[in-house]
Amino acid sequence: MLILGIETSCDEASAAVVEDGVKIRSNIIYSQDEVHAKYGGVVPELASRKHIETIVPVVKEALEQAGITLKELDGIAVTAGPGLIGSLLVGLSLAKSLAYFQHIPYIGINHLEGHLTSIFLEEELSFPYIGMVVSGGHTNLYLVQGFGDYLLLGKTRDDAAGEAFDKVAKLLGLGYPGGVVIDRLAKDGDNQAFSFPRSMIKDESLDFSFSGIKTAVANFVKERGMEEVKKRLNDVAASFQQAVVEVLVSKAVRAARSRGVDKIVLSGGVASNSALRSLFKHSPEKENIKVYFPSPLLCTDNGAMIAGVGYRYLKEGKSSPLSLNARARWDLPTDPAE
Ligand code: KG4
Ligand code: ZN
Repeated sequence: MLILGIETSCDEASAAVVEDGVKIRSNIIYSQDEVHAKYGGVVPELASRKHIETIVPVVKEALEQAGITLKELDGIAVTAGPGLIGSLLVGLSLAKSLAYFQHIPYIGINHLEGHLTSIFLEEELSFPYIGMVVSGGHTNLYLVQGFGDYLLLGKTRDDAAGEAFDKVAKLLGLGYPGGVVIDRLAKDGDNQAFSFPRSMIKDESLDFSFSGIKTAVANFVKERGMEEVKKRLNDVAASFQQAVVEVLVSKAVRAARSRGVDKIVLSGGVASNSALRSLFKHSPEKENIKVYFPSPLLCTDNGAMIAGVGYRYLKEGKSSPLSLNARARWDLPTDPAE
């Protein structure tokens, strides 16, 4: 089965062709980073306008690279939420039109389910596992017992981990998106140079909180002055990053222990972070637990993960009606898309 996956939930326009749910024939990602960089964050109106310009060429390229035409598709999967409503509608409208004119089924997919199961595009894995989605919009911990069988164990009570990276980068004058820049600077820094809070690390619950660390960095900049901070940028970046990744590792491991599960699967943009990957690899805490990371291209927002989920629903004969609406908020687990 050849499925076209379309993703436009935020500031990446992506289209992919995936064969039988696991074989990536193409996965084209057009990032709008340049559009939003000067504003220090995603501007929703600009994001949807840019999607309108780019999504058709991106889909064409995905088909070309896969060596197929629209006629050969068996179905279309498209992100229907959660995300920016104007951005979502661009992808959703295109998916509906293509499905209608090609007389093929299409299905609206929850973006979080895409991240949570993106690992299957690269590895064969058995259930259960602890799935951690760490992105610009979410920091969620799930017990994954099968496809479609997700139990939410914990989530952030305020900012998402990626949001903390982006906001701290902005505070430090590093531009948008901040995660990659902080990751790079931190490589030459001392991660013990400064002490930033590890919020809720000892808390019994599996929830997170990342707004405190953002405030701590803001106060730090205020106290030391920007001149001083600029001189120690690598150390500040490394110390901030270390505080965030320690919390993420600690909570994921605790989730696995509490559920007697021996696998943790990371996903979402922050899962590309090199300190997070390295701490998971070397953490003494995680004895007997295997940790899986999709490659960076599958950690970020991409159409292949949406096609992967779509395949599993479409092959069971499930599909969405043309009346389906996009959803800015859409929890997982949840009711199926209406
Ligand atoms: O999954 P994603 O591409 O989009 C959302 O669904 O949000 O995640 C984007 C987030 C941004 O906050 C970005 O700064 C962060 O992931 N990110 C990183 C790294 N690469 C991307 N954060 C830390 N380290 C990285 N290497
Ligand atoms: Zn995402």
